[in-house]
Amino acid sequence: MLVSLQTIIGMAEKGNYCIPAFNVYNTETIMGVIAAAEEKKAPVIIQVYPRLLNEEVGFYLCPAVVAAAQRSDVPICFHLDHGPTEWEVMRALRWGCTGIMLDGSVHDFDQNVALTRHIVETCQAIGVGVEGELGHVGSVNDDAMDEFTSPEEAAEFVKQTGVCCLAVLVGNAHGHYKKPPKLDIDRIKAIREATGGTPLVLHGGSGIPDEQVKAAIAAGIRKMNIGTDVCCAFAEGTKATLNDPNRSLAVDLFMKVAIESVKNLAIEKITLTGAAGKALSNE
Ligand code: 13P
Repeated sequence: MLVSLQTIIGMAEKGNYCIPAFNVYNTETIMGVIAAAEEKKAPVIIQVYPRLLNEEVGFYLCPAVVAAAQRSDVPICFHLDHGPTEWEVMRALRWGCTGIMLDGSVHDFDQNVALTRHIVETCQAIGVGVEGELGHVGSVNDDAMDEFTSPEEAAEFVKQTGVCCLAVLVGNAHGHYKKPPKLDIDRIKAIREATGGTPLVLHGGSGIPDEQVKAAIAAGIRKMNIGTDVCCAFAEGTKATLNDPNRSLAVDLFMKVAIESVKNLAIEKITLTGAAGKALSNE
């Protein structure tokens, strides 16, 4: 079933676990993630970057996510990832997103608050929860990312905007880490406490060592984004098929290993985040 961001995050909050949020790029990655969620009976978030909401791709991709989520027996939220402006948010809502991220982290604090609050108020009208970001989570290729999220600013941000969850910068980055990251777990705890228990979001989930992910969840992370690992799993599966002399060129058969590879990755992350078996439970 298709559920809202606040509903799915509320499930994680109640059960002290984390919802894995998978970035998808095509029908095959959607199929792999949903097959994993159904097999493991897990609630999941399926999310898209704003560039996928254009006329060429969004027209095919978004209806496929919505239809697949509606026919599934596990809770699935369809989420816009890193929406930069109201324009992308409007498009995402039109395409059926049930969760919105407004990423105003490139702006100064006051501008970020004003933009995020405006989007929260807009989305409230149709019952869609909003994720905000404070402390800009960049790429692993950026030079310095040492301006970690301040607990005091986070408290003020949450109070002024009304976001349902907050993405934080605590040693994480997008892409494959050049060396294993060291998450600031104490800071996650401090942000959680300062914001009165606001559900926190960890971007850059690909390649964070399992023990750190578990510690981050224990400290208050309730949504973890996984993008690069989905791409790698899909590419590895495709490569394996290309190297198979008995492969079929019929595209649906050709894609089977790639779908299975995404499914296996998703099962791994569903298990790691504690979401397995939680689809039907009240905890
Ligand atoms: P990775 O690509 O590093 O997994 O990050 C994904 C992400 O945070 C999307 O917002």
